[in-house]
Amino acid sequence: MRTRPLKVALLGCGVVGSEVARIMTTHADDLTARIGAPVELAGIAVRRPDRVREGVPAELVTTDATALVKRGDIDVVIEVIGGIEPARKLIMTAFEQGASVVSANKALVAADGAALHAAAEEHGADLYYEAAVAGAIPLVRPLRESLAGDKVNRVLGIVNGTTNFILDRMDSSGAGYSEALDEATALGYAEADPTADVEGFDAAAKAAILAGIAFHTRVTIDDVHREGLTEVTAADIVSAKRMGCTVKLLAICERAADGASVTARVHPAMIPLTHPLASVREAYNAVFVESEAAGQLMFYGPGAGGSPTASAVLGDLVAVCRNKLNESTGPGESAYTQLPVGPMGEVVTRYHISLDVADKPGVLAQVAMVFAEHGVSIDTVRQQGRPDGDGEASLVVVTHRAADAALSSTVEALRNLDTVRGVASIMRVEGE
Ligand code: HSE
Repeated sequence: MRTRPLKVALLGCGVVGSEVARIMTTHADDLTARIGAPVELAGIAVRRPDRVREGVPAELVTTDATALVKRGDIDVVIEVIGGIEPARKLIMTAFEQGASVVSANKALVAADGAALHAAAEEHGADLYYEAAVAGAIPLVRPLRESLAGDKVNRVLGIVNGTTNFILDRMDSSGAGYSEALDEATALGYAEADPTADVEGFDAAAKAAILAGIAFHTRVTIDDVHREGLTEVTAADIVSAKRMGCTVKLLAICERAADGASVTARVHPAMIPLTHPLASVREAYNAVFVESEAAGQLMFYGPGAGGSPTASAVLGDLVAVCRNKLNESTGPGESAYTQLPVGPMGEVVTRYHISLDVADKPGVLAQVAMVFAEHGVSIDTVRQQGRPDGDGEASLVVVTHRAADAALSSTVEALRNLDTVRGVASIMRVEGE
């Protein structure tokens, strides 16, 4: 056992950082035994020193993150600041100093992962980021290491807890989107500005990271097709229930059928109640992985929060410290397949389309003809007259599998029909 400690700089001491500091202190003996050397928290960089939490050693706190990273004896930098800058610059500085980095920063890894990996490799350091995707749930390491000998074809996940909470409330209580969002805010799941969650940016960053690792290629957040859940209505939830489905905000990463490209997307979708992801309630996350040899795997657990995210950070800390002691590094970026990321139009799936139409002879035939003209095959149609008898009806069409581009042209043509008063909603049907 080495007695000289490995020195750790912690950048950020919010909900996650303060848990990391607490666990490093309270579990110091176990961490030492598991790593084979003591780990010492050498400094904690914060923006607002007056906000430092209870249990965090005040004497370690500094507002000069750059000086902490550059002081010359830091072995590992833990970055839990989030956002692009100054996190990016601090991580690059850490690598230049020969330190390994553990980060929880999904936005940065999804935007600039390739450059970060290249810098880590150049300086013989590690870059680990298990906490960037789905909090405590082990996903990065299973995909990067445990499944490294297999071929992953599809990753389908609920990777945002806030939106899962909102959709779960809409499903269980019949609440509308705004009401469910208010409840999520009151309970502390949704932030004061919920844009990153409800517009799907958070999930898109995670989808980019998962797709890159799963398919051994490069995918950035800009490659991910993104739709949030703000347009999901109580009527969509009722319609999903009628079909034996529920609505989830899904991150879907797929290898194309010909294997020549991949796609990554985030959007609300109906999934059958029989699918394992349908039973993921409240703010939990789960990711379903389909691979050639292993078959179907599901990873489930808390995807956010200080303590669960700190668990993932500390797992990475142990791994990079062990590598340091062995004078080695863990796996770096694997992007050798160089598969291009295909456009959304190439995605093939099923659709649930809800139309407001004139309730008169020939309308159904007209609508069916538009689908036929665009090569989109209809699976089921359900028409419902309006109780107020205003001469309109709701028409719900569920299609067989079709390309997204064909569905978009179909919907555009439907909007041009005089008898179609409006397209109330379009939702993809996944997981069948
Ligand atoms: N805001 C995210 C969520 C957690 O609701 O899942 C951090 O990625």
